[in-house]
Amino acid sequence: MRVLFVCLGNICRSPTAEGVLRHQLQAAGLAGQVQVASAGTGDWHVGKGPDSRTCKAALARGYDLSQQRAQQVKAEHFAEYDLILAMDESNLRHLRAMRAPNATGELDLFLRRYGAPVDEVPDPYYGGAEGFEQVLDLIEAACHELVVEIKGRL
Ligand code: 4NP
Repeated sequence: MRVLFVCLGNICRSPTAEGVLRHQLQAAGLAGQVQVASAGTGDWHVGKGPDSRTCKAALARGYDLSQQRAQQVKAEHFAEYDLILAMDESNLRHLRAMRAPNATGELDLFLRRYGAPVDEVPDPYYGGAEGFEQVLDLIEAACHELVVEIKGRL
């Protein structure tokens, strides 16, 4: 199974989700069976590592994001991934607009799919440190539910 997380810049929210899911899959003994990646709808940060505040907050919880590099989402990703998960409604609209009608990859809003108390992972880029903790809290909980789904699908 192949999962792609998508946000705006691919330096805060979706790299966090990539790192958290990888970690949880490793713990569940499923790392070899699932391919995980992330991308941004924008191209401003392509080739760069995640935001330093994102890396710091993630590392404090045991997630090392330092090897990740930003990429922009492209139409071919809908053939390369089985499940494409948007961090917010704006990302979802962008992805819907670029998805071919016959594309195989399933597209959904990440938090809503997994029954989180809010539908969107708030963009932490222009805010303070607490925003990065909130991103981690929301993503960790939703990834637990995603792992349950993955176990059922494998
Ligand atoms: P992300 O956060 O979408 O979670 O990676 C952002 C990162 C950068 C920008 C916006 C959001 N930016 O405008 O550069």
